[in-house]
Amino acid sequence: MAQIKFFDTTLRDGEQTPGVNLNKPEKLEIARQLERLGMDVLEAGFPASSEGDFLAVQEIARTIKTTAVTALARAKQSDIDTAWEALKDAEHPRIHVFLATSPIHMEYKLKKTPEEVLQTAVEMVTYAKERFPIVQFSAEDASRSELPFLAQVVEAVIDAGATVVNLPDTVGYATPAEYGRMFAYMKEHVPNIEKADLSAHCHDDLGMAVANSIAAIENGATQIEGTVNGIGERAGNAALEEIAVALHIRKDTYQHSSRMVLHEIKRTSSLISKLTGMTVPGNKAIVGDNAFAHESGIHQDGMLKHAETYEIITPALVGMNATNLVLGKHSGRHAFNTRVAELGFGLSETQLQEAFERFKRLTDKKKEITDDDLFTIALDVQTKH
Ligand code: KIV
Ligand code: ZN
Repeated sequence: MAQIKFFDTTLRDGEQTPGVNLNKPEKLEIARQLERLGMDVLEAGFPASSEGDFLAVQEIARTIKTTAVTALARAKQSDIDTAWEALKDAEHPRIHVFLATSPIHMEYKLKKTPEEVLQTAVEMVTYAKERFPIVQFSAEDASRSELPFLAQVVEAVIDAGATVVNLPDTVGYATPAEYGRMFAYMKEHVPNIEKADLSAHCHDDLGMAVANSIAAIENGATQIEGTVNGIGERAGNAALEEIAVALHIRKDTYQHSSRMVLHEIKRTSSLISKLTGMTVPGNKAIVGDNAFAHESGIHQDGMLKHAETYEIITPALVGMNATNLVLGKHSGRHAFNTRVAELGFGLSETQLQEAFERFKRLTDKKKEITDDDLFTIALDVQTKH
């Protein structure tokens, strides 16, 4: 089964989340955990953007051994030189050079003609290739670029030495069908396309970043970029843990795997949430606190009879301890009795009946019943009889 490479940009695009500012030790701790998680590539930062970023990238490059370390650079010699200074001690250094190819970015932001953009892209990839063994080129705003021009740029940068070409949906505008078509178009119209990995980089402005990334895989992408917990600029980036688990659970459909160590997911998510201050919503897929919680009586009863009735992923797969049956007003007797027994009580039928009635009365006053509440009820009932 073909393997998709996972490129993590939590420390670069993820750090562009408004309000997030990580210091060097925090970045290093995250980088180490991303290595344990089995990331293929880790984008440590944008060294030309500040001295702090340069030093953090340098430290990460010197520490991380199995994951390739890369850094962002504009298509400028000075940025590439600075990135090389920061990355040269890495075991597997790579560079990530980007330049926009959409009409709106070329005209208003870069103030360059398409011919000038093509020339700069080729010159800067050639320049970067003199230092770095692996050069990735990103055509910023690829999804709003004209496909024939984009194909021309892709072919030229591969000829110049790029072995990874990224086609970002920079503003999160593409639909899965459109995004997939862009990859299929490159496969069909770029003669040297097999010499490079095609990479997908999706933003979540319309909530389609993960679906777009999967569409890219279905159309020939061999590398996926994103962040853990989906943090990032504006609405964020594609959540890598969601893509990795989707590939694993639906391998029958996607026929691709990854190197990701899935049981490290929860730990990585919690660490990043703690250090960035970006709380993970309870209902977030894969890593939210409620992702494996079952509140309704019917679901709880089904779960206790056979977990696969309502659970397609086991919590253990992603490093969570156990399925969480949340006891609330919709919970049934089966879940209640089970939890009371797990707390160590051996109540008789009559005691269980009384305890269950008291539990139900409490749910009218409290949304979620804790183990402490159950303990108090069960102990009280037991000592009374
Ligand atoms: O979203 C984007 O286009 C980027 C590039 C720098 C790759 O983050
Ligand atoms: Zn981005």
